[in-house]
Amino acid sequence: MKKITVTQPYLPPLDEFIPYLQQIWDNKWLTNNGPLHQQLEKELAAYLGVKYISLFSNGTLALISALQALNITGEVITTPFSFVATTHSLWWNKITPVFVDIEPEYMNLDPNKIEAAITEKTTAIMPVHVYGNPCRMDEIQRIADKHGLKVIYDAAHAFGVKKDGVSILNQGDLSVLSFHATKVYSTIEGGAIICHTEEMKHHIDNLKNFGFRGELVVEEPGINAKLNEVQAAYGLLQLKYIDGFILKRKGITNLYRSLLKNVRGIQFMDDMQGVEHGYSYFPIFIDKDKFGKSRDEVYEELKEHNILSRRYFYPLISNFEPYQDLPSAESTNLSVATQIAEQVLCLPIYVELNENIINSIAGVIKDI
Ligand SMILES: Cc1ncc(COP(=O)(O)O)c(C=O)c1O
Repeated sequence: MKKITVTQPYLPPLDEFIPYLQQIWDNKWLTNNGPLHQQLEKELAAYLGVKYISLFSNGTLALISALQALNITGEVITTPFSFVATTHSLWWNKITPVFVDIEPEYMNLDPNKIEAAITEKTTAIMPVHVYGNPCRMDEIQRIADKHGLKVIYDAAHAFGVKKDGVSILNQGDLSVLSFHATKVYSTIEGGAIICHTEEMKHHIDNLKNFGFRGELVVEEPGINAKLNEVQAAYGLLQLKYIDGFILKRKGITNLYRSLLKNVRGIQFMDDMQGVEHGYSYFPIFIDKDKFGKSRDEVYEELKEHNILSRRYFYPLISNFEPYQDLPSAESTNLSVATQIAEQVLCLPIYVELNENIINSIAGVIKDI
């Protein structure tokens, strides 16, 4: 079989991209809040159902800037079961991450374990909507309100996700998206911060542009994290196709579910009640004792068949060198995350993945 990657970007027809490029060539406006950037902010806010969105050159700089925008210092409670950029954004702000375990059903930060980790240095909670599954946001907000903490959601996987008809990006103080090429919606590299007030949007827009307010005033030490016009053009074109992308991913997810549902020792997550998902990943969880083979053995077997799956998220962030000596990184503190990280395997999912290949992938797993 031809090599099957775990993800693959969908590139819209090139001839539909050319008119955007022509517009950029005509305007000679390449970056710094250009017309396509402005149009994309408007269209994304409308599509996502949010009030204010600031585009960024990538999700990591958006996370770092979100923490800056709220003046977060001291300690921040977060999850070890995420992509490493979540915790790196704290490190870049000289904030100490405090890892709290995840809940076993949807693998998000466990609200029941947050309060025990709060100290007088805690200033915020940074949960992640892992695989786009919404966190237990009401409980998290209740704890944050009780202790006077900010909430910054890493929503990198949660493009278009709604709960009870409302975008989950409206929750917390800020939410951060990634538009990396591997994501459901992409601007090649890119990201965004969603906020609730015009004042905060101005603040964030200044932060990503060196801290400039107007032409001559620098009000704070900002960064350069601007999204350029070519990326914005790509994003506008992607937006025309996004509903179809999500439908296709839903179909792939449901096909995997039907093919793997009776395989002993293999589990996967169902849709959550009242949630419109983006189907960003298809993780399975392999119980070695019941399945007979470990997750790593399944990973290797798939690789031998030219199918590249991904152990996402393994190792836990708390096991990486920069963080492993933190007291909260102890595996006894993170028993659920430690177990899940040993079991998880994300199977290929992308718009152009066809049914035959999905059947073959499931077949390889069943035949192991
Ligand atoms: C959970 C999570 N947070 C942050 C990021 C960082 O986003 P970016 O790659 O756009 O910098 C990613 C993905 O790349 C991610 O998966």
